Amino acid sequence: MRLLRNIENALQGTIRVPGDKSISHRAVMLGSIAQGKTVIEGFLPGEDCLSTIHCFQKMGVTIIQNGEHVEVFSDGLEELKEPAGILDVGNSGTTIRLMLGILAGTPFHACLQGDDSIAKRPMKRVTEPLRLMGAALDGRMDGTYTPISVRGSGLKSINYVSSVASAQVKSAILLAGLQAEGTTTVTEPHLSRDHTERMLEAFGAQVERDERTVSIQGGQQLKGTTVHVPGDISSAAFFLVAGAIVPNSQITIQNTGLNPTRTGIIDVLKRMGANIEITNISTLSSEPRGDLHITASELKGIEIGGEIIPRLIDEIPIIALAATQAEGITIIKDAHELKVKETNRIDTVVQELKKMGARIEATEDGMVIHGKTALRGADVSSHGDHRIGMMLAVASCIAEGETTLHHPEAVAVSYPNFFEQLEQLQNA
Ligand code: S3P
Repeated sequence: MRLLRNIENALQGTIRVPGDKSISHRAVMLGSIAQGKTVIEGFLPGEDCLSTIHCFQKMGVTIIQNGEHVEVFSDGLEELKEPAGILDVGNSGTTIRLMLGILAGTPFHACLQGDDSIAKRPMKRVTEPLRLMGAALDGRMDGTYTPISVRGSGLKSINYVSSVASAQVKSAILLAGLQAEGTTTVTEPHLSRDHTERMLEAFGAQVERDERTVSIQGGQQLKGTTVHVPGDISSAAFFLVAGAIVPNSQITIQNTGLNPTRTGIIDVLKRMGANIEITNISTLSSEPRGDLHITASELKGIEIGGEIIPRLIDEIPIIALAATQAEGITIIKDAHELKVKETNRIDTVVQELKKMGARIEATEDGMVIHGKTALRGADVSSHGDHRIGMMLAVASCIAEGETTLHHPEAVAVSYPNFFEQLEQLQNA
């Protein structure tokens, strides 16, 4: 439980948010199946990415993690050994889904399980295409839920048309495709984050891309490399919104990832009237990055749906908070995927923001928010979901009176020093 107070002053100062979660996971995974040493700089030492490290260590890979610096030593896929116990993925959907893609082609048995949230998340979206490729997978309800067991084998390539725009599904198939005979192709309804494609190339693999379709030829050997992880735009999002809605705020967030498949939050906030400037743009390890400057401004309600949804899917909780402070109506649609995140984020966002006085309603595929509403402190919960916890902490900054946040520890999944950085900006 954490007591949070309405802040007296503006939020001011310069921060660097922790490393990108998606890129940190992938760097450990590709490093573990590549030949030679991989060095990761700017790694996110959050619980999710540590789960990925522990799983690969259990399969015999030498990984030395020292804060944001990680070294992975491997001789390639053949290095992976049958784990003696269950692979615990903790709270991490990316860990389990991408790892299943790797394990689909490895000639041993593994059993994967996570926490109560993972037990409710759909796995059929990866077990189904991986079975089509020839892998033996099973799990509760015919491979829909954890625990999931896999016995890898020789794989054949597939041409898969996915019904969801999911980078986890796409990546699992590509990682299996890397081990399959022939060329594996995945097409998705809208382009999802493309970190796997970019990083496979950085590790020396060839990947063919054409809009929403990506192909990989099996049998390519990855070579260890150095990965410089940019700050996580999904973590920066909390301070972009805080900077926009706390009067007179001025925040700079340095070295933030600006991959175009992730920048929907910037587009949406700008459309709402936010004042965001980007400087120092560069590209390192195939990923663009730059410094974000936000100053507080009046916001207006907008409609958000369609192809932009995968580009901001993890930012919808904090966008919903921004919408409570925007003049007019904000409609978020085409976001069914929110129901199968760490929590059902349509339900948890609506339930918790309502407690603070927001005028917000759930819809079948999103939510409708009426602004501008003065929020009040309340007794709220993260429901064990890191992004809900951080959104509520930002809400407390502008809420009248005191907010009690239950399960604040969930933030450690993606942003271990979130509360320290929030305090730093308050006291600057
Ligand atoms: C992720 C993909 C997204 C995202 C998750 C991380 C990834 O999930 O919500 O936080 O690293 O590939 P989906 O692939 O389920 O959309």
